Amino acid sequence: MAIHPPEPFRIKMVESIKLLDRKAREAAIRRAGYNLFGLRSEEIFIDLLTDSGTNAMSQTQWAAMLEGDESYAGARSYFRLAEAIEEIFGFSYFLPCHQGRAAEHILSTCLVKPGQYIPSNTHFDTTDANIRARGGHPVNLVIDEACDPKLRHPFKGNMDIHKLRIFIEKVGVKRIPLGMITVTNNAGGGQPVSLENLRAVSETYKEFGIPFFIDACRFAENAYFIKLRESGYAAKSPLEISREMFALADGAIVSAKKDGLVNIGGFIAMNDEALFEQARNELILQEGFPTYGGLAGRDLEAIAIGLREVLQEDYLRYRLGQTTYLAECLLQLNIPIVEPPGAHAVYIDAELLLPHIPQDQFPGQALAVQIYLEGGIRTVELGSLAFAYPDTETDQIVYPQLELVRLALPRRVYTQSHLNYVAEVIEETAARREQIPGYRLTYAPKLLRHFTAQLKPLKQAKFFSETTKLTALSSSDQ
Ligand code: F0G
Repeated sequence: MAIHPPEPFRIKMVESIKLLDRKAREAAIRRAGYNLFGLRSEEIFIDLLTDSGTNAMSQTQWAAMLEGDESYAGARSYFRLAEAIEEIFGFSYFLPCHQGRAAEHILSTCLVKPGQYIPSNTHFDTTDANIRARGGHPVNLVIDEACDPKLRHPFKGNMDIHKLRIFIEKVGVKRIPLGMITVTNNAGGGQPVSLENLRAVSETYKEFGIPFFIDACRFAENAYFIKLRESGYAAKSPLEISREMFALADGAIVSAKKDGLVNIGGFIAMNDEALFEQARNELILQEGFPTYGGLAGRDLEAIAIGLREVLQEDYLRYRLGQTTYLAECLLQLNIPIVEPPGAHAVYIDAELLLPHIPQDQFPGQALAVQIYLEGGIRTVELGSLAFAYPDTETDQIVYPQLELVRLALPRRVYTQSHLNYVAEVIEETAARREQIPGYRLTYAPKLLRHFTAQLKPLKQAKFFSETTKLTALSSSDQ
């Protein structure tokens, strides 16, 4: 097994974690309606639900938080963040907001009208939902290679330029208020986008006069992939590559909870002054005054430092090394994953691992629940539960191409032995995969249903211990 780069930091503060026994885990997941979002964090041993807001901050960030300027207007901390954003992103204007979806909400409120279309490689769930909430249609135009989990393409997050052009010509520019791309492509396996593709996307949008926004939550990870994989970039720094990426766009929306290396925060940045003024008014309405935008001054300080720390090469080498390590462990155990792995997560192909569970019985969710039962590990389903929507015209359910379970790695949080444990638990889960039941929904809201949905197993899982089985069978709803 390849040696992976060790952590370029040492641990100064720890947080205890405990593994509940099997029966307690069974009771917890049942109480949560078989939805891992419904668990309490104390019921989880290793939490790979998300890499968002789960980062460990550095001593420099914590120290800077004490210097946070909490003035309502014109805070010093705002200007520190402005400097970092100017240095890395280079857009003319920016507005802080409390997290990525607030930036999405503001952008959609300003630009999206009912019946309009917004293309991207793949919209993430909240972006998708914010567009739908304004009556718009999110459109995913990622390259076909992205839908083949086994295909080792270096930039599987790329957009299909041919499809994009045909789409724009078919729908007409008047119905496309903005075009987007997500780096890295979270919903498509955390895959990077090349600079060559970003350039082509930018030129296409420009040709048609469509404003181009990058969903840039994981910009540093994307930049490092470009450095490693795209010819001509090996000698450039992640900062230089990032600047080159953003110079191609008219703006960006960023959740700082990922590559901002913080626990809360985000921003929207743009070059268009009129859009900025409109967005600023929305921000004041929804988030707060433009120099704090829904955050405390100390949060702005932490983001300013996080955005710079995340671009350090030893950090990025370790970060990608960790994901690669986990991916290699799983591949050695013959667990099907999306290849090559992205930077922030490893995605298991649940459809391939659980072929006996059809898409309308949520194979991804079934696997995620079972991994929790097996070893107290929380993962997240990115498949039919998160992404199946009724077609706007036919009302028939459109299922996503991939049924994935994401193992997201919080930044600077877990060690290699945690990852070894994760691999062992998944090996155990896979060994008994035929016994894993499908699920049915008992409650689901219309938008973003995976966060609060309630489910029930379709048949009694043999995994459950005898006592639980008896209780479950005797309860009226089984
Ligand atoms: N865009 C992408 C690509 C994301 O991955 C996320 C969040 C957002 C936008 C929204 O940002 O959470 O700060 O409001 N992704 C998290 C995840 C939730 O688990 O992947 P937010």
